[in-house]
Formats: sequence, C-alpha cells, structure tokens
Amino acid sequence: MKIHSVSFDAEMRILEFDLKTLRNFERINNDLEKDILSRGDEQNKNTNVKAIMTSWQMADQYKSFQDLLKIIVKHILPKYESLEIVSGGLAQIIATGMWGAIYNKGDHTIEHNHIGSQYSFVYYVKSDDDAAPIIFTSPGKIELRPSTGKLLLWDGRYNHMVPKHESDNPRIIVAGNLNWQLPDKKKYV
Ligand SMILES: [Fe+2]
Repeated sequence: MKIHSVSFDAEMRILEFDLKTLRNFERINNDLEKDILSRGDEQNKNTNVKAIMTSWQMADQYKSFQDLLKIIVKHILPKYESLEIVSGGLAQIIATGMWGAIYNKGDHTIEHNHIGSQYSFVYYVKSDDDAAPIIFTSPGKIELRPSTGKLLLWDGRYNHMVPKHESDNPRIIVAGNLNWQLPDKKKYV
C-alpha cells in the first residue's frame, strides 16, 4: 500500500452576510428572540455550549427557525459554494440540527467542530459591541465579532470556540448544521 500525497494551497473561507438588508428582518429577528426565550435551557450545559441552550431541533416546531433556514439555504449558501457540482445537482440540502442559545455573563463555548456536517452557521439574534467573539482555531485562526443580524457560514470541519462572554447584555444566537442528502441513498457497507 502507498499513500499519494500532493501539497496544495489551502484557504479557509467563512461567509458573512448581514440579514438587516432583508425586507422581513425585523419580524424574523423578533420571532427568533421570542421563541428562544420561550424555550429557555433544555441542555443543562451538557454540550460544548456552556450557556442556556434550547433543543437541537427547533426548526421542527418554529416558523421563525424555518424562515431563517430557507433564507440560508436558498440565498446565502449558494454564495459560499456552487451547489450544481454536487452529484450533478441531484443532491438536496437538509438541516440536521438548528438550535438557539443565550450567553449571559461568564458563559462560553469550548473548542469543537461539526465534523459529519458539510456546513455550519451561526446567526446573531442579539449582540452588542462588547459581546464575546467567535474564534476559529483550525485550520486557520481568525476572530470575528458578532453583531445583531449578522450570519456566518463555514465548512463544518473548522474548529471554533467562544471565549467567556463579559458583557452584562445577553448574546442570543441561532446555530445549525447543513448536509447534503442524495435522493436515493443506499448503504453498501
Ligand atoms: Fe459550533
């Protein structure tokens, strides 16, 4: 056996999009905040997110989450990746999870990635200027500041974390994972 190894220039890409430019921004954003606050904590800080965190599957129950998901899949994801090249355009994008979180003072998220998901995203429902950033740590390092209405989308393999939130104002987010699904998916092994 041998391994063919080829070196190439690598690039880490994170898409940033401002949802404030959308016509229905106020309604979607207000509804997301209301729906996240109504659920409160359902994870007891047992995940990487050491903050108040909802169920993993908010898109099953809330129109606000479904509306945001539609915007991401139809209008934002195609700006990050050319979707036609995947299985000749036959594959479809599905959301495998979508949740909300509220960071209060002292809350944080430990370093992790979303391997198994093709794309991951975070949307900042409410975030003031001194809210904790998101820090991507691998394969490249970059720190990005949140602001209300901002959406970030990246390759699910990138490692990231959120340092301690030091502001007295809550940092409210929606996050989720997207994957390709082939119409006739068969398992051979
Ligand atoms: Fe994450």
